[in-house]
Amino acid sequence: MPSVEGVGARRAALQILDAVLRRGQTIDAAAGTVRGLSPPDHALAVAIAGETLRRMPDLDALIDGATRQRLPDDSKARMVLRLALAQKAGLGTPDHALVSTALPLVDGGPRRLVHGVLGTLLRRGVPAMDAPHLPAEVERRWSEAWGDDVVEAARRQIAKRPPLDLTFADEADARAFDGLSLAPKHVRVESQSVAELPGFAEGRWWVQDLAASLPARLIPAEANQVLDLAAAPGGKTMQLAAAGHDVTAVDSSGSRLQRLKENLERTHLKAKLVEADALKWEPRRQFDAVLLDAPCSATGTFRRHPEALYRARPRIIAESAELQGRLLDRAAEWLKPGDTLVYSVCSLEPPEGEQVVTAFLDRHPGFRIDGPTDLPGFVTPSPEGWVRILPDVLEAEGGLDGFFMARLVRHG
Ligand SMILES: C[S@@+](CC[C@H](N)C(=O)[O-])C[C@H]1O[C@@H](n2cnc3c(N)ncnc32)[C@H](O)[C@@H]1O
Repeated sequence: MPSVEGVGARRAALQILDAVLRRGQTIDAAAGTVRGLSPPDHALAVAIAGETLRRMPDLDALIDGATRQRLPDDSKARMVLRLALAQKAGLGTPDHALVSTALPLVDGGPRRLVHGVLGTLLRRGVPAMDAPHLPAEVERRWSEAWGDDVVEAARRQIAKRPPLDLTFADEADARAFDGLSLAPKHVRVESQSVAELPGFAEGRWWVQDLAASLPARLIPAEANQVLDLAAAPGGKTMQLAAAGHDVTAVDSSGSRLQRLKENLERTHLKAKLVEADALKWEPRRQFDAVLLDAPCSATGTFRRHPEALYRARPRIIAESAELQGRLLDRAAEWLKPGDTLVYSVCSLEPPEGEQVVTAFLDRHPGFRIDGPTDLPGFVTPSPEGWVRILPDVLEAEGGLDGFFMARLVRHG
């Protein structure tokens, strides 16, 4: 049988979805193992998998409403139906194209069932899903932690394509750039085609969510030697180097450090790079400040990485929190009185943010929180002095990644 055009991309999307849901991989990692597709088909496969993960609870509700048969969560029929409906809701794919590319994926299997359910749903009409549900466990967790309004904001955000935030090395270049500036050295643009924006090849800016640019802004200007711990791919390293600090960047991942090196080369910025496990590494110099942007569940990046919501099971969050506490303890050993320790995570889970810092302060009475007064106006520090960025912050301007950060100072 001749292959139908576009089936390869759908087959790859199925492979990616399976790797994310069953093996806990990221979309990027799963997409990296897909071979033999043209770049446009590869991009289409990633887009279909992403749109599916943005809307999965709503897609499942539609599927369940169109058949009396209970399709197991990881059955091929359900997976293929999810992919087909996500194309309708998220990508505007015409009905005939999504049917003709779905059916070959279930050849020799539940083809009639898939055809029947799809036909029923397309006749009924697939709703736009402008505020799709998050996975039920995440909605419960975030509702308890942040309230229903924040969950609603997150539901609106996950359906949209986030804007592109650029961080500039030089404030004068940022001011000359066409876009919305929400902080010094920051410009927000709609365009997603990074390499075509002016100044890319010259290395005047790098892509960095506005929330992710806040932790480095907490490092005191007068700190000379700054340690960027868990540094790759280096958005914060570049900010620190551009601000004039003498930066040492440590990361345990060689491949991610290689990206950091390339980023520094493109932006003509300098930092000392060290490949090491921070839990074992012994620094040879003294630092005036440490920035620990710790590994985490990354649930705050759900707009670009919706799979994070499925990977962040309570056990993963608890393991992350344990590692974050150990990394903080390690960093604390290297600081003298008067020095600063900034802790941040791109997570919306209190056990990785507020609770890690509270437990750290209990273990280290020589540290206290130094609440920031120098961040952009849209940031409101909590009464404790830390900063929590939720999905409803600057929503009308396109929103921000979810983040937590705290500036700690050693006083004894
Ligand atoms: C959130 S990412 C850092 C992002 C980076 N700060 C930036 O702004 O581009 C966390 C990093 O921690 C690194 N990492 C994880 N465990 C580590 C460890 N034990 N020692 C050093 N780095 C570690 C990971 O390789 C990853 O690059």
